Amino acid sequence: MKINKIFEMDIHDGMKEEIQSLLSECFQPDYPTSRIYYKQLPHARVLALNEEGVLVGHAGLDYRVMNVNDTPVRVLGIIDLCVAPRYRSQGIGSRILLEVESFCQNRKVDFLLLFADQKGLYERNGFSSAHNKCRWLKINDQNQTTIGIGYEYIEELMIKEVGEREWPNGDLDFLGYLY
Ligand SMILES: CC(C)(COP(=O)(O)OP(=O)(O)OC[C@H]1O[C@@H](n2cnc3c(N)ncnc32)[C@H](O)[C@@H]1OP(=O)(O)O)[C@@H](O)C(=O)NCCC(=O)NCCS
Repeated sequence: MKINKIFEMDIHDGMKEEIQSLLSECFQPDYPTSRIYYKQLPHARVLALNEEGVLVGHAGLDYRVMNVNDTPVRVLGIIDLCVAPRYRSQGIGSRILLEVESFCQNRKVDFLLLFADQKGLYERNGFSSAHNKCRWLKINDQNQTTIGIGYEYIEELMIKEVGEREWPNGDLDFLGYLY
């Protein structure tokens, strides 16, 4: 298994098609068919390739300052983690999470953040549920327009400390959209 990282702006058409087909297979039935993101482009992606160089796993990365309890924090968000069905349960999802964490070492990232309704995989990889009331920019992913501001607790929110800071309680302002 080979793990690559790529900036979003370097993704060429052939690679886009491969990512598109993996996302459609993994997030049936409703992943958009014409693009490789739900609401907004990530900044980079982690790609897991099998021995033949075929794409079998993926995660998008969003780097952002967020505001939690009136303090700016540097957050790397993990978006659309997925592994092709016949490659699941072999540790590839965990390997991608680990790779993202290693990438943060000696870099300006305080926390990893993601959303999950099934939390076991992430808890096993050191993530915990966070109980902050969230404020974010709402985007309608059908017509890709801004529709307002959300402000509520989100049960699926999980974080992992990867720097020296502790995750605070209090309101979490995403300063942007929610992935
Ligand atoms: C979630 C997912 C990426 C895990 O990939 P993986 O390579 O199988 O991960 P690992 O081998 O490291 O761990 C497997 C464990 O993940 C957990 N898991 C399975 N499906 C999951 C899901 N949809 N969400 C979260 N965790 C899941 C199970 O506990 C599984 O353990 P098991 O093999 O004993 O059943 C993969 O199941 C997937 O692509 N699912 C569809 C897309 C998805 O729901 N992504 C999560 C978005 S939050």
